[in-house]
Amino acid sequence: NLVNLTEKAAMKIFAHRGASTHFPENTHSAIMAALKADVDGIEVDVQSALDDYVIIHDTYLDRTTNGKGKVCDLNAQQIQQFDAGNGEQVPTLQQLIDWNSNQTLLNLELKHTFELEKFAAQLEMNITANKISADNILVSSFNHHQLHWLKNRLPWLKIGALTASIPLQYAKFAEDLQAFSIHVDKNFMNKSFVDDAKLRGLQVFAYTVDEVEDIKLMLACGVDGIFTNDPERTKHFLAQLNEL
Ligand code: G3P
Ligand code: MG
Repeated sequence: NLVNLTEKAAMKIFAHRGASTHFPENTHSAIMAALKADVDGIEVDVQSALDDYVIIHDTYLDRTTNGKGKVCDLNAQQIQQFDAGNGEQVPTLQQLIDWNSNQTLLNLELKHTFELEKFAAQLEMNITANKISADNILVSSFNHHQLHWLKNRLPWLKIGALTASIPLQYAKFAEDLQAFSIHVDKNFMNKSFVDDAKLRGLQVFAYTVDEVEDIKLMLACGVDGIFTNDPERTKHFLAQLNEL
């Protein structure tokens, strides 16, 4: 009921692919708009290019840029010649870290991402150089083997185990991974899953939640945070709920 909702109308807001409703996803403008909305974190997608890591959702350039073909077949400089929307470039991982300048948490979702030793070394280098604090990095993936490898390599690293399922043993897979959080498709979120995760000491975040009805459902499940394409609107709605 509404009373319970208002009591719980506090949750973390993560900008999904930046503020991607109003700006091209995973670009500078989407990142800046998310920072301006004072989000609790920004989720972006990481792909391996030939020589670097770039911030783009798909394995192929085609949907979000005017380029064609696989991201991993080109180097970053070649990829940055394409238009990722409104004349913007596909960012590199380093550009993203620099733009954020430790203002908020970066949730780096590994997609088709390889050479993880190089990735781990880049994170370490940025922490040593005080460009970002360890607390502001959360690496997530549907590939739990990669998360397992990274946690072994960087024991301080917060990892988020992604799933679009309700496993028989609920959040056990994430506890086994020593994860910080589980990131669950909203369509597979329920209260039993959330309760189980919390008993295991895990944070629970739902993706991708933009509609008011879905926001209410996630609040009722007791999630700790949501990924939303429109953080400003979502924050506005939560504030309204709290005024009721
Ligand atoms: O990280 C949460 C969410 O972004 C996972 O799905 O396809 O939007 O990257 P996708
Ligand atoms: Mg993603």
